[in-house]
Amino acid sequence: GIHGTNVNGAGDSEDKRFTEGEDEQTLTTRQGHPIRDNQNSRTIGNRGPATLENYQLIEKLAHFDRERIPERVVHARGTGAHGYFETYGKLGDEPVENYTRAKVFSGAGKQTPVFVRFSTVTHGKDSPETMRDPRGFAVKFYTEDGNWDLVGNNLKIFFIRDAIKFPDLIHSFKPDPVTNRQDTERIFDFICQTPESMHMITFLFSPWGIPANYRQMQGSGVNTYKWVNKNGDAFLVKYHWEPKQGIKNLTQSEAEAIQAKNISHATQDLYEAIEKGDYPEWELCMQIMEDGEHPELDFDPLDDTKIWPEDQFPFLPVGKMVLNKNPNNVFAETEQISFGTGVLVDGLDFSDDKMLQGRTFSYSDTQRHRVGANYLQLPINAPKKHVATNQRDGQMAYHVDEAPTQNPHVNYEPSLLGGLKEATDRPKPHQPKVEGHLKKEKIERTNDFKQAGERYRLLEEWERKDLIQNLVDGLKPCHQQIQQRMIELLTKCDEDYGRQVAAGIGFTMNDDGTYDMEAGSEITPSFGHFPIEGG
Ligand code: HEM
Repeated sequence: GIHGTNVNGAGDSEDKRFTEGEDEQTLTTRQGHPIRDNQNSRTIGNRGPATLENYQLIEKLAHFDRERIPERVVHARGTGAHGYFETYGKLGDEPVENYTRAKVFSGAGKQTPVFVRFSTVTHGKDSPETMRDPRGFAVKFYTEDGNWDLVGNNLKIFFIRDAIKFPDLIHSFKPDPVTNRQDTERIFDFICQTPESMHMITFLFSPWGIPANYRQMQGSGVNTYKWVNKNGDAFLVKYHWEPKQGIKNLTQSEAEAIQAKNISHATQDLYEAIEKGDYPEWELCMQIMEDGEHPELDFDPLDDTKIWPEDQFPFLPVGKMVLNKNPNNVFAETEQISFGTGVLVDGLDFSDDKMLQGRTFSYSDTQRHRVGANYLQLPINAPKKHVATNQRDGQMAYHVDEAPTQNPHVNYEPSLLGGLKEATDRPKPHQPKVEGHLKKEKIERTNDFKQAGERYRLLEEWERKDLIQNLVDGLKPCHQQIQQRMIELLTKCDEDYGRQVAAGIGFTMNDDGTYDMEAGSEITPSFGHFPIEGG
């Protein structure tokens, strides 16, 4: 076994592995029976019928029938690679240990193996990689203290700040349950009632919504986490991956030209770069602030729809990542790998960001369903270190996690009879004080439009042009009420932003600054879409 004891204790004597006339290349069934004929089913006469007791045929077909597992409900389309993370040992001018006791960051020049999976979000496992969509950037660090997953995206912010909205957000982006097609009317129907998404929408409908490939894009942890040092002091942190290959994005028409010929251009680009030894690299940069609510800021540091301004919170490099090996088998590695935001090591911690708690439940929950209860026993998911638990059994239990050597009868804790023991010499965990009324309310400092407006103004001319055109194209087939609401929200971000989109859709502005919505509705027939009550 990879770790611990194989249930069947296989592999004790090498020379019994081959039966007469058999060698390494001999095809067998999974029962070890050498296969004499792999071309013909067993039949009555040459013409058939086939018979039911043909174990070889039935096993082959039955296994084939089960080749697929459920694809990820989001981020189904992806590609992955192995590599390593190497520390700089510093955060700015200070030793990194002043801020975190996580061993994965300590000292300079220390390497930790990683597996990275890049992805798009919305569509299925074989969908085009040119789609306008956030890109996933998930990194599993196989550290000496166990695994750490940094499950990020290319963009630094997100659409929503409360996990309770996630299934609705995703439903609106996924294909219509009746027509089975993605429909911008459904997207903007949701978005125009989700003002906190304006910042993300401004990125997503600009060229930043279609990275040219996976090597030339950034990554970000998006949610705020904590670092904890050896004194138990905590700091709020954000993680950013900066590509040494530079950043490159595509306009809608550039993406369409690629998509016409290649639906896997990003997978191909990464695979070929690694095969020819042109290993992509990213620098990991941190933003950091004292733990606390920071009332002096006009945003909440736990709000994942906000960027921490770089002039106040500079990017501090702590290490670099190199991807230098393609998977041997996409299914076993890229498909079955399971990342989660709950997978942290000592010295790294959660912030109080409620969205992050929601995510943390969702990942391992979906993986128990998608891959199976024992998904952590698969080689790609298992830590590369000692694993000893009292967890037993379940579907596809491959081996017993390292059992107590003193007494394998004991699968519980505590025990005086020689079972596994707690690691009581480990550092005390960070113990934040939490106080408050239990309630269902949004955060106070929502400030939904300011950073979106700033981003709009910061975009380069060609990016802004593409953004407006993409929003106009997406909004044109929408119900008038949706267009109206979107224009209102975009205007709150930046007046010019709202006006450009309104003009593109065909609305004319009245003297009092309101839009003539009738004019808009004339050229935007809501063809066959569902009616909105009172709309
Ligand atoms: C994948 C849930 C927000 C990044 C997934 C999966 C689920 C999920 C269920 C599929 C996991 C699997 O099958 O293994 C959620 C929920 C969210 C949320 C409930 C909000 C409450 C985010 C955000 C980011 C993100 C904000 C970016 C930081 C990713 C990535 C993957 C993923 C990169 C793919 C990981 C891989 O390659 O296997 N998410 N997600 N998600 N999510 Fe989220």
